[in-house]
Amino acid sequence: MKREIENPKGKLGILSVGLNGAVTTTFLAGTLAIRKGDKKPIGSLTQMGTIRIGRRIDNNFPLIKDFVPLANLNDLVFGGWDIRNENVYESAISANVLEKNDLETVKDEMKRIKPMKAVFEKRFVKRLDGDWVKTGSTKYELMESLREDIRNFKKENKLDRVVVIWSASTEIFIKESEVHSSLKLFEEGMKNNHPDISPSMLYAYAALAEGAPFVMGAPNLSVEIPALVELSLKNQVPIAGKDYKTGQTLVKTVIAPMLKARMLGLHGWFSTNILGNRDGEVLDEPDNFKTKEESKLSVIDTILQPELYPDLYNKYYHKVRINYYPPRGDNKEGWDNIDIFGWMGYPMQLKINFLCRDSILAAPIVLDLALFADLALRSGMYGIQEWLSFYFKSPIHSKEKVPEHDLFIQLMKLKNTLRKLMGVNPITHLDSNGVEESVEEYYPD
Ligand SMILES: NC(=O)c1ccc[n+]([C@@H]2O[C@H](COP(=O)([O-])OP(=O)(O)OC[C@H]3O[C@@H](n4cnc5c(N)ncnc54)[C@H](O)[C@@H]3O)[C@@H](O)[C@H]2O)c1
Repeated sequence: MKREIENPKGKLGILSVGLNGAVTTTFLAGTLAIRKGDKKPIGSLTQMGTIRIGRRIDNNFPLIKDFVPLANLNDLVFGGWDIRNENVYESAISANVLEKNDLETVKDEMKRIKPMKAVFEKRFVKRLDGDWVKTGSTKYELMESLREDIRNFKKENKLDRVVVIWSASTEIFIKESEVHSSLKLFEEGMKNNHPDISPSMLYAYAALAEGAPFVMGAPNLSVEIPALVELSLKNQVPIAGKDYKTGQTLVKTVIAPMLKARMLGLHGWFSTNILGNRDGEVLDEPDNFKTKEESKLSVIDTILQPELYPDLYNKYYHKVRINYYPPRGDNKEGWDNIDIFGWMGYPMQLKINFLCRDSILAAPIVLDLALFADLALRSGMYGIQEWLSFYFKSPIHSKEKVPEHDLFIQLMKLKNTLRKLMGVNPITHLDSNGVEESVEEYYPD
């Protein structure tokens, strides 16, 4: 059944945590350039992707943005928080992702975008120091100040809605503890400065309390804790995360399903990266790397299901390394060596060398997530948005379920969600040969 989706009237604010980072400045520069007609939105499913409606014979493939009522790029207003006080043009120059001449046409607009003071605790990101940081005697007070920022930003820019998206540095690895287990304990914990409450959790709380969807782009424990899921349900706000799926893991979630689809076995998968941007520097710290490692490791186990295929996947060795190597900057290089085996156990190898650009891959994901999170809000969807798993290395999911990592199943799930929202039948890809009856309600073929 078609949902009543409020049309996107008025302006949508996108508040980025980590406003001055490489990912956000690349996202901002690109979106502003696209808005001017200088660049194409390459990599963005919301802007370039199509969706099949009806049967193959109908030949009906509208653009996603024409099929679902997404906010228009001209109606976006940008802001956010960072621990360094510079405008986003200066930061984009120092991030060294984009060429200076690509920033020239959007320079004036970028110069006007400046961060609000951040909530920051060095214990969570040991390699960074910030001088543009809020002070307060309790975490509750800091969270209240973030809420006030959101309200002011909305008022000053005459916005209709706001989405908050975390593209700030990865926080250290911490485990879920009692203070995370319920909203009540979490609220008390903020007032008592509980050490297990991280800055990212305060941003998430503030967003949800203000009715703004919260999207988590880094791998650390944050909005998926029971207390914040409870708040998202209570306030009926969508949440999504975590850890943008961009380079090596994107490739993994295509290759691993291929191996499983053909019942090919796996002896070992060794993945290594060299990366020289600030993210690489933060991840050079063992406690911060551990967060990323956990996120990257979980993927192939879930796809390969060793418990169902012990002869193929029971004993494979999986290793992931990220090496900080400054000369490469944002231009990451990933190597994968995959030792597989086939018929009669004969060994084979796959070697993948992906010379990618971290922020170039992440920027369109930020745009899509902001627009889809806003769509979810206007469609009355709230809590964990599993249909957005497509964009994440460690998709947040309800505890009773296993996550879905296979990229193409994720894409099908996303598109079927859009079809359902608009009151159109999902596509099952069943053929009509002899199964017409069982698929009558869907589209044969
Ligand atoms: N680029 C990718 O392909 C990719 C993929 C997955 C995840 N990520 C994650 O996205 C995040 C951003 O990556 P990046 O390359 O832009 O990193 P970056 O270091 O360039 O930017 C991070 C920004 O966050 C700011 N920051 C740190 N703590 C903050 C806080 N508490 N409040 C506000 N600002 C804070 C930093 O000052 C910095 O400007 C990282 O966590 C990274 O792991 C990136």
